[in-house]
Parts: sequence; structure tokens; C-alpha cells
Amino acid sequence: MTDQPQLMNTAKADSRTAAIRAMAREDDGEARRLIAALIADLFKIPITDVIINRDQYSLNSLNGFLTSAGADYFFKFHQEEGEEAMAGEYYRADILAEAGLPIDLPVYKSVMAGEQILIYRRRTDPRFSDVLRRLDIGLDDAAEDRAIAAETALNGEIFRVFERSLHPITAAESEAEPVHRLFHQRMIDPSTGLAPGGRYRQFYIGQRFRFPGADLSWDEFSSARICFNGTTYRRSVGALFEDALHRLDPRHLADAGGVIAHGDAHNANVWYLDDALQPRLMYFDPAFAGENVPALLAEVKATFHNCLAHPFWLYEPAEAERRYQTRANYRDGILSIETDWDLSAVRKRLLHAKAAEVWRPLLALLRTRGLLPGDWRQVIRNALFLCPTLVMNLRAGAATHNPSSSAIAFGVAVMVGSEPDRGSDLMTAFFDSIDPA
Ligand SMILES: Nc1ncnc2c1ncn2[C@@H]1O[C@H](COP(=O)(O)OP(=O)(O)O)[C@@H](O)[C@H]1O
Ligand SMILES: [Mg+2]
Repeated sequence: MTDQPQLMNTAKADSRTAAIRAMAREDDGEARRLIAALIADLFKIPITDVIINRDQYSLNSLNGFLTSAGADYFFKFHQEEGEEAMAGEYYRADILAEAGLPIDLPVYKSVMAGEQILIYRRRTDPRFSDVLRRLDIGLDDAAEDRAIAAETALNGEIFRVFERSLHPITAAESEAEPVHRLFHQRMIDPSTGLAPGGRYRQFYIGQRFRFPGADLSWDEFSSARICFNGTTYRRSVGALFEDALHRLDPRHLADAGGVIAHGDAHNANVWYLDDALQPRLMYFDPAFAGENVPALLAEVKATFHNCLAHPFWLYEPAEAERRYQTRANYRDGILSIETDWDLSAVRKRLLHAKAAEVWRPLLALLRTRGLLPGDWRQVIRNALFLCPTLVMNLRAGAATHNPSSSAIAFGVAVMVGSEPDRGSDLMTAFFDSIDPA
């Protein structure tokens, strides 16, 4: 293969990818044969040893590995519903690359209406999420320092790109950004646009919520005051969803301007390249990147999913149940949750770095440019709240979560989403540390 990305445009391949997706569910061998034939055809290269990644397989994303002329590649079929192919991943990768952000680029790409086939060099580097998981459990100060140094270098690059790219945006420009699919669009019906809909309605409304020591209906749960490890929060889960529904409407988010950003830079979309004196981080999977990303949304996913979502409680709920003692109790409209879960040392450092190196200078920049809305804390809180609640179903028994992990999950969600009634907590300290006033 060449180093120049190859761009193909073949309408007829569209029906072949549909057949492959269907076949991948029934006959692995036949699906692999079809993938090899299609890719060989599109790019005029020999293909052998196709493997479909079963753990990652979903209706929207089909990916795996293949070999061509002795070199190993990662392929990805990426479906974009009802969208121009131009809005897809390879186009978004180019935006980041041109801005100077470190982003893995495909070596081959094909564009068809609604479907892209991207081929990347196969990497053996760990994802940053894998590196950090090891640091969550085993103490290794030298490895931790190297990981934090890599994060700090990326934070610096992110802020420099914010500084160069911050500009006023219109409501329509904000609305056109795909990043909203991670936030507001998970609260509305995708076809009618009506609220409440999407994951918000599907996951939670009208359902039951089981915790160790309490079992609540949606009406009880959504209106309960949450007391998490002794701190009572002002806003209920229901109120936080309603706040987010209104304030994170894409048209309302144009007020803080737009920046060039990845938008979905959780660390399972980040490579850890440890091949030089200093390890470096490199983005991949930029499907939600853009050049008009509302400034207050740009680093929310990275802040929540890389720091506050760990250790264990969000992505490894069974492990969280084993490790932590968690109890709940519901009385007089108050749901109290007690747990010995806490951020690990490395996650605290990551949160601190993100605050000091990205959020604080970003807010100061917004203020200087007259683009800092008075309710910036609420905007960031609303978006942080949607990160865990709409990324997966947090109710015990619905998918992977159990009563214990579910209690930690909603406790953390409310802690990031709401001001406490009185006093301070981890998040009030975070917001105080980034406040430009
Ligand atoms: N170039 C690559 N080489 C090896 N593995 C890869 C490569 N790109 C992605 N992967 C693996 O496939 C997984 C899914 O890829 P990703 O691009 O993040 O797609 P998705 O849209 O499914 O999140 C990644 O988490 C990583 O483990
Ligand atoms: Mg990904």
C-alpha cells in the first residue's frame, strides 16, 4: 500500500456492504471472504487473513484486521445514517490533522453514500485507557509520571488549538456539529426530534431502580434528593435531565463560540505511543470531531470518561461490586448512597491536569473574547451529567450494571451534575479552580 490515502467512490459497493453486515451475523467465514473480495476490488490490492472483531461488533460498526502484501491493517466499516459521506470520519480526521492535533489517519478510504470503509495501519500500541487501568490497580510511580507527562503534552496541544480556532458560531453551525449526538440527541426521538426520547426515555423513564437497600419507581427516583456520601445535592436526577434537555439544545450552545476539537476523546480513542524518550498520545476514531464544536462541550467527554468514570464503576460494574462496599436507603424523598469508592491517585492527577491545563485557560480565553456565558458552570455540569447516564443504561439488571455499581453511578452523576446544598465537594473544588473571575 502507498502512504497517500486512496479515495474511492463506488455506489455499487453500498449494497455489498449491506450484504456483508447481514452475513457477519450468520456465517463468519463467508463474511470474511466477502470483505476480502470487496476491499481487494475497491483498492486493487491483495487481501488475506481477514478477522472480524467480535467483541466490538455492533450494527453500526463492523471492524477487524487483515493482511495485504505482508503488512497488517485494521479495517472499519462505518455507517453514517442519513448523512453525506463527506461528514464522515476521514473528513473529520483531516480537520484535526490540519489543526495540528495528533490524529491517526487512514491509509486507504472509500466513500459511498452512507457508508465508509477505512483502512488503518494495524497498531500494537496500547490504548491510553489500557495503560491507565493498570495504573489504577498497581502502584508504579515512574509509569504514572510518564502517563501524566503524556497527558500534559496533549492538554497543551489542545489548548493551543482552542486558542487559534476559537471563533463565534451561529446557532445553525452549532446544530450541524456531530458532537451533539453524544449529548442532546440522546434525549430526543431521532426521527421526530421530540423530547423526551432516545436513550433518556428508553433507559430510564417509567423503569425501576434497584440499589443495595432500596428499590424505587421512576417517579420516586427521578424526584428524590440524592445524598451521596453525606453531601446532599440540590437538583434531582429528573431535574438534571430537564435542565440538560433545555440548556444543551445545540442552538443554545452557540453562545460560547466554537473550536476545533475531537469531541469524543475518551482514552479508548487514544493511542499511547511509548516509542520515544517521552511517551506521546495520539487520537483515533474522530467521528464526532469538528471545526465549530461548542467550546464548553469540547473537552467534557475527555474530562468525565478519563477521570471521573474510574476506577471500575462505569465500565467494569462487576469488579466495582466486588471491590466496594455500597449501601442505599430511601426515606422521606431522600435517596442516601454510601460507598467507599473514590477516584484513584492517577485519576485525581488527570482531573487536576485537565482543569489546570485546559479548562482554566479556556475559560479565561472565553472571558477575554466576551464569549463566556454567565451560566457556564451549569452548562459544563449538564454535559458532564449526560456522560455516564446516556453512554449506557445504568439501571441494575438492564445491561451490565448491578445494584451496587448503579448506586455509585447515580451518586457520581448527581455529584458532577448538581451543586451541593451546602459545603464543598470534589466538583465544587474543580469549578473553583477553573473559574476565571
Ligand atoms: N489501527 C488500529 N490497529 C489495531 N487496533 C485498532 C486500530 N484502530 C482501532 N483498533 C481497535 O478497535 C477498537 C474500535 O475501533 P474504533 O476506531 O474506536 O471504532 P468504534 O467506532 O467502534 O469505537 C479500538 O478500541 C481498538 O481496540
Ligand atoms: Mg472508539
